[in-house]
This record gives sequence, structure tokens and C-alpha cells, in this order.
Amino acid sequence: MAEPDHTSARPVMATQRLGTTPADLARAGEILAAGRLVAFPTETVYGLGADATSPEAVARLYAAKGRPSFNPLIAHVPDLAAAFSLGNFPPLAVKLAKAFWPGALTLVVPATPTSPVCELARAGLPSLAIRVPDHPVAQAILRRAGRPIAAPSANRSGHISPSLAAHVAADLDGIIDAIVDGGPTAIGVESTILGCLDDTVVMLRPGGIAREAIEAVLGFALKDAAGDAEAPLAPGRLSSHYAPEHTLRLGATTVRPGEACLGFGLPLPEGAMPHLSLNLSERGDPAEAAANLYRHLRALDQLSTTGIAVAPIPAHGLGEAILDRLARAAAAK
Ligand code: TXA
Ligand code: MG
Repeated sequence: MAEPDHTSARPVMATQRLGTTPADLARAGEILAAGRLVAFPTETVYGLGADATSPEAVARLYAAKGRPSFNPLIAHVPDLAAAFSLGNFPPLAVKLAKAFWPGALTLVVPATPTSPVCELARAGLPSLAIRVPDHPVAQAILRRAGRPIAAPSANRSGHISPSLAAHVAADLDGIIDAIVDGGPTAIGVESTILGCLDDTVVMLRPGGIAREAIEAVLGFALKDAAGDAEAPLAPGRLSSHYAPEHTLRLGATTVRPGEACLGFGLPLPEGAMPHLSLNLSERGDPAEAAANLYRHLRALDQLSTTGIAVAPIPAHGLGEAILDRLARAAAAK
């Protein structure tokens, strides 16, 4: 049998624009419950939601994103009780859930044999990624939907994650059923993903909760996922995942003629042209930089330049997640 083509979503429908009134949030929940696709804000980035219990809805989601192959999705639920019903949480996972949920943390745990999340959403894996987001709009929509919602970042596969509803529309207008506009996302990078499959905890993706904060709760140092960057434990972490059009040059202390500059702290690297420069955080704050990262990358990517020089960024706090995403964006070329 021929493989269905999941990469050819073309604009074919009118995408509803919803706000955050109770009526609009109820509508968003109904559309999801009907197996259709709704983009909504979380505190990290905008997610593209689909009913995680429905293979048809999840297949529609993969098609809309244009994911070339099935890549497991995070199941989003509104509270810890709902989360605990989807997976077998080892004791350390329970501790992390209690410390950080709701929040920018995703835990990968063994799925329960009776987990309602469909196999397609898990990409056939025996494990399941779960998150309880801390955003009033996401919370309201999840409660209205009344079932786990699979939600990858609401961008076409290979594009930069959206931190504004306008970014979602630029990628998915005419391809999904609705976009809920809840304003800019506060954190700006995706959740931290931890693997909790047994009595260890492994960092699968640095993200919105800093390693230091997690280690403070665990009382020991986090291990990093072993293995090669092209076949990581978090299968979506291919090095080409975050791809701007322009070439990125990281750790740049000088800017070459014709290059745009993504700054961090002041002063900007030598040679930076003011009209071709954006600063992630003039005061050198990694959290502020994370919130600006994807918006600034998109804006610089639209300029006519020879490339983007990125100033050095320290690796502590959210700096780890920022450097991870920038390294992927740079490797994409
Ligand atoms: O902040 C976020 O996490 C956002 C918001 C919308 O919640 N979501 C997000 O989803 O970033 P996505 O699909 O773009 O990234 C999820 C990552 C992928 O790299 C995927 O491979 C990995 O999680 N993942 C999902 N299930 C997994 C599993 N069972 N084992 C290992 N990795 C898994
Ligand atoms: Mg993504």
C-alpha cells in the first residue's frame, strides 16, 4: 500500500481567529473534541493541538505540520491527576511533577498499558511525553477539551517555533481550523524534556526550566542523553530542526560587512550595523533573551544580509536552551 503523503498540506480552509473570551475558549475546546486542529498559546511557545486519543486527529496534525516522518508528540493535560493517569511515574518523576507542574517541563515516562493516548501520537514508543502547561488560556482549553491534547510547536516542520499568533498564521493559515491569540508567550523557548523511564533522570532537551533549578530539586547532577545528535533519545532533536534561511555564525565577537547581528548584552559586537541588529537582552539576562529568541531570529532572517552573526551567550540558566536552539539553527545549513 502506498504511504500517505503527509507533507503536502496546502491552504484549503478558512482558519478561524479566536480570542480569549470564555465563548472563544469553549469554541476552541469543541473544535479539538471534534478531532480538528487548534493552535493555542502556552507559556513556552504556541502549540498546535489535536485530540491525542484520536489517530485521525493526530494524522491530520502530522500532515498540517508537514512532518516527514512520525515524531512522538507531547500529551498536554490541565493538572497532575490527569497526568498521573496517562503514565507510570517513577518516584523521581513524581517529585519533579510536584515541583515544576504546571510549568515548562515535559516528563517522558513509561505509558500505562491502558493509556488513552493513541499509538500514532507516541510514534509507537512504549513511553509517553507529558506536560501540564502553566498558561491560563492553555489550561482553559485543555479543561474544555476534556482529553489529553497532543501539541507540538505550531510551526511547519523545520521552521522556527512560534512565540506570537502571527508566527502561527504565517506558517499554518488555511491549513488548520483555528488560532487562539493569547499574545506573546512569556518564556519563548520550548519546555525542558527529562527522561524518567526508571530510577534515573536524563536531560533530553534543555528548555524553559533551567538545569540548575532541576538539579536543586533532585539533589544530584542531571545526566545528558547519550548518543549521537542525529539519533537522539528525543527523536525530534535532529540537528536541522530549527532552520532559518540565513547562515548563522555563533559566538561572533565581530560582525562582518553585510552581516546582520543578533546581540546579547552591551556593547554589540564590533562592526554591528544598528539597522541590521537586534539585541536579545541589553542587560544580558538569559530569561529575557529566551523570550525574544525566535521573534528576533525571524525578524533578522527577513532582512537582506549575507548571514547572521550571533554574539557570545553564557551557558548558564536558560542560556543552555538558547545555545542548543542556535546550534541547531546554525547546523541546518
Ligand atoms: O514547550 C513545548 O514543549 C512545546 C509546547 C507546545 O508544549 N511543544 C513542543 O513539542 O516543543 P515538539 O513536538 O515541537 O517537541 C517535542 C519533542 C520532540 O523532539 C519529540 O521527539 C520529543 O519531544 N518526544 C516526544 N515524545 C517522546 C518520547 N516518548 N521519548 C522521547 N522524546 C519524545
Ligand atoms: Mg517543535
